[in-house]
Amino acid sequence: MNDLTMLAKAEAADHAASAAMDKWVIVKSAIYTSGERDPREGHERQEARGRLHLMGHDPRLSKMPERPTVLDFFKHRFGPATHLLQSARLAQKNGASEKIVLACLLHDIGNIGFIRADHGYWAAQLVEPYVDEEVAFAIRYHQVLRFYPDESVGYTYPESYIRLFGADFKPEPYVEREYRYALKHKYYMSARLLTVNDLYAFDPALNVELEEFTDIVGRHFRQPKEGLGFDQSPSAHMWRTINWPTRYL
Ligand SMILES: [Fe+2]
Ligand SMILES: [Fe+2]
Repeated sequence: MNDLTMLAKAEAADHAASAAMDKWVIVKSAIYTSGERDPREGHERQEARGRLHLMGHDPRLSKMPERPTVLDFFKHRFGPATHLLQSARLAQKNGASEKIVLACLLHDIGNIGFIRADHGYWAAQLVEPYVDEEVAFAIRYHQVLRFYPDESVGYTYPESYIRLFGADFKPEPYVEREYRYALKHKYYMSARLLTVNDLYAFDPALNVELEEFTDIVGRHFRQPKEGLGFDQSPSAHMWRTINWPTRYL
């Protein structure tokens, strides 16, 4: 994209945002601003005269298809997925099973599309109704296993965690407990393989396309015919929230 198209795009987005705010009262959920604001203060009051509270698609966002697939969420709602694509590619290169490749492809959708804190749990919960239990387990537990080395597969404590969290960082007791639980689980090695293929550093030169994984997703992700968010699975409401993140209710 050249500078002019970028500028035009940014201006169009600005315009859409102000047009949307003229028409709708759009309120952020407490969790979006908690920390920046003290949630006990409640949300900022907006002048509601002449405007309705948004109850559907946020016009500032790219419109999702009516029956969205998981790949549509990558295209319309998730942040840059380079890390996920490169991790999935690495798993393939290392000869991992298709289920592990899928787990790598989806493992950080918590961070890039929903909520960062406890991202492994959120991501696993999102996909659990649609994937094999091994895939969900690997995604859920990769988060805690990342903190613990396993020499049998050459996994050491990430250098980047020392930079990010400091040399003295100690995981919370629940993380330790979850690690002990995962260690004894029949799918321990699946989650461990995910951590092995969870790339620490992005390779800016390596371009991996989402489409490369269409077949694997097709074979191992049970896409609901109503579209993600519109079936009756236990995580449908979470997909709807990602689709319509600013609905008033
Ligand atoms: Fe992660
Ligand atoms: Fe990751």
